[in-house]
Amino acid sequence: MKILTSPADLQAQAAAWKKAGETIILVPTMGYLHEGHLSLIRLARRNGDRVVVSIFVNPTQFGPTEDLDKYPRDFQRDAELCRQEGVDALFHPSPGEMYAPDFSCWVQEESLSQTLCGAFRPIHFRGVCTVCLKLFHLSLADGAVFGKKDAQQLLVIQRMVRDLNVPIRIIPAPLVREEDGLARSSRNKYLSAQERVRALALSRGLFRAQEAFQAGERRPEALTGLVRQELEAVQAEKIDYVELMDRDTLRPAGSAAGHTLLAVAAYIGKTRLIDNVFLDDTPACP
Ligand code: PAF
Repeated sequence: MKILTSPADLQAQAAAWKKAGETIILVPTMGYLHEGHLSLIRLARRNGDRVVVSIFVNPTQFGPTEDLDKYPRDFQRDAELCRQEGVDALFHPSPGEMYAPDFSCWVQEESLSQTLCGAFRPIHFRGVCTVCLKLFHLSLADGAVFGKKDAQQLLVIQRMVRDLNVPIRIIPAPLVREEDGLARSSRNKYLSAQERVRALALSRGLFRAQEAFQAGERRPEALTGLVRQELEAVQAEKIDYVELMDRDTLRPAGSAAGHTLLAVAAYIGKTRLIDNVFLDDTPACP
């Protein structure tokens, strides 16, 4: 496995692979890899000849009061896991290599990124879109894998690729949970043992809503209410949102008929957790 830190080296390696007729799949990450990331890497492996994983804690997607400095990092362990997964190149640039001191070009998605997390993290998706477009250019990737855990991020990136005609295929990957239901996240590391138990309220609430949906419930306030009940039962420190959104617009859905996303963001202790389920009442094709 090649470990590359310079953007020019990644682009040169990618160009050599392309010249040899090989396809490249990118898995963009911020490191501190867990089973969820490994499932993205395995999906990438099934979709192309070469797999590039980027590990870059992107400063431009963190607000001034957010957890950029304490975001967990363990490059040696991440590199070992990537090696075991047969990754071809690991890209690990420094912030200075990705952003010139007078960097001044940004990608701003202006619709889907306004609600849910975007309403609470105003610069977040501008940073995500900008760094992802840079990573797409540097890796010359044919495809890139994004997990459904960050559902809004996936939809925003799909919109960017469509609107800016970026020649890359976005490959959505299923959300990976711990055995007890907690969505896998690098930020779970922040949770104390007690908080870890309270954090299960997010997935428990979503599963209850999913069951109600399967039993025919379509009213947004009834579905979101089930999630809120669980969060209130564990006295979540703060609920940023529990929302049922139309999946195409990420605006509040009047009903759970059609394709919707039920999404939650809440603080357990000082840790902000997100989780979601996609609700789909379109009958499966016979
Ligand atoms: O999902 C993440 O880890 C990040 O937002 C990403 C896509 C790697 C961009 O920094």
